[in-house]
Amino acid sequence: MQPIWTLSTATIPILIAFASLAAGFEASPVDHLARAGVAGYPEVQQALDRACTSCHSGDAPARGLRLDSWEHIVAGSEDRTAVIPFHAERSPLLALATRLEGGPHPAELGEAELTETEIESIRAWIDDGARSAEGEVPYSEPGQLLYVANQGVATVAIIDMGTNRVVRIIDLQELGFPPNCMPHHIVVEPDGSHWYLSLIAADVVLKFDRSNQLVARLDIERPGLLALDPESDLLYVARSMVAVNPPSTIGVVRRTDMTMEQVDTFLPRPHAVAIRPGSATVFTASLAVNTVAAIDPLEETVELADLGGDRPHTFIGLAVSPDARWMVGTTELTSQVFVFDLDRLPDMIPVDSIPVNPAPWHPVFTPDGRQVYVGNNWGNSVTVIDMETREVKTVIEGRGIAQPHGSAVSPDGKYAYVSSRNLEMPDGHSKAGHRYAPRYDLGDNATAGTVVVIDTDTQEIVKVIEVPEYGSGLGTAAPRTP
Ligand code: HEC
Repeated sequence: MQPIWTLSTATIPILIAFASLAAGFEASPVDHLARAGVAGYPEVQQALDRACTSCHSGDAPARGLRLDSWEHIVAGSEDRTAVIPFHAERSPLLALATRLEGGPHPAELGEAELTETEIESIRAWIDDGARSAEGEVPYSEPGQLLYVANQGVATVAIIDMGTNRVVRIIDLQELGFPPNCMPHHIVVEPDGSHWYLSLIAADVVLKFDRSNQLVARLDIERPGLLALDPESDLLYVARSMVAVNPPSTIGVVRRTDMTMEQVDTFLPRPHAVAIRPGSATVFTASLAVNTVAAIDPLEETVELADLGGDRPHTFIGLAVSPDARWMVGTTELTSQVFVFDLDRLPDMIPVDSIPVNPAPWHPVFTPDGRQVYVGNNWGNSVTVIDMETREVKTVIEGRGIAQPHGSAVSPDGKYAYVSSRNLEMPDGHSKAGHRYAPRYDLGDNATAGTVVVIDTDTQEIVKVIEVPEYGSGLGTAAPRTP
């Protein structure tokens, strides 16, 4: 293979100007709200018994969904949860009973419908947490969670990777953010105790605890991708793609107190960001020039590597293998996956470049380091790279892959997750007919985002999980090296 880059490196000492930008912040609750005077479960069960259980009970309930007890409601169907605690409007139970268009549901079949009062009871019950008669909130036990930023609406969907269903939706408008605040990327503490979210258009990074209480916020201009160092207290914040001329710095945040230093990368539009586990090194790359940077915040140095080339690559995402040996970098305009051998640092010349389908977006390694998954944003496919041969192993296409964006893997490495935006794209950027049509037509959900679940053994899409509009960055607690 002919290298398409030339290399020049420079080590630049950097000055860290420390600025504490985290303001005193009062926690605001999302989960476990206690609301006085709302309808309880028994009232809701009465309504369901009257209008729903004729089809949704017994040995062969419609779509496997039984609605005849709290346990059965919470069990949901194979495909989805029926209730999303604290979010009635996005709960299938309420949405299908009130907004289904053209479905085989009570209205169409001339069966009993829910009364206005019953609908309001169900709404209030779900918004209060869909509690059992004893007050238990569904899906509150600890599990392995996948956090999905929904950039088109101000929400975050939380998926339980044990069942691959949405168990919570966090509505950022309830926390005072505007509908267009653009939640973009999420990283999670290794023990799952907290998660961090960038809101591009609100110029903030938010910190939530495990029960989804907002516990801190940090002001930073146009934040985009995030990287969390599992072995230190540091969180790195790079700049969003929508920012045309953002600062050339990245944010270095102490997670315990959410104070920040800004470190100059000497790069225009630093976008991608990844850390090398076990070292203090953080990598970033420019959207505007063909340069990647290795930053050592302890030594206070930046190593720049110019990859050359006669046109812009536009680096999108970087990912480091769990054993800290390899890094891959994806490029939007040249559709490459570059492979860097980090044992050669400070030499950052890529050891390989693998051509893939158009516009590879966020890459992710499996925990064993053997495979890399990356969605091709303009190609409506997912490329799987075999890291032993450094070749494309397979290309996955199919239902639910519609402008793929974010990626993650389950901690056991069994599943890869790829989110999709499911929007119209400019001519030439997308195949015709790529759009995903949601399972149920609710009148306003044609642009629902998706997360496809891929079996990392068979490379089959085993499930399409619907999420609110524009699935972007995905976050999980970092898988551990086996
Ligand atoms: C006359 C039979 C019938 C009645 C009564 C009925 N349903 Fe359904 N329900 C269905 C069928 C059939 C489907 C699957 C539709 C499809 O596959 O498109 C379904 C699907 C659903 C689903 C989606 C399940 C999934 O995971 O895909 C939910 C939620 C649901 N119904 C809720 C209700 C509620 C709430 C009521 C009462 C207000 C109700 N249904 C009453 C027949 C019924």
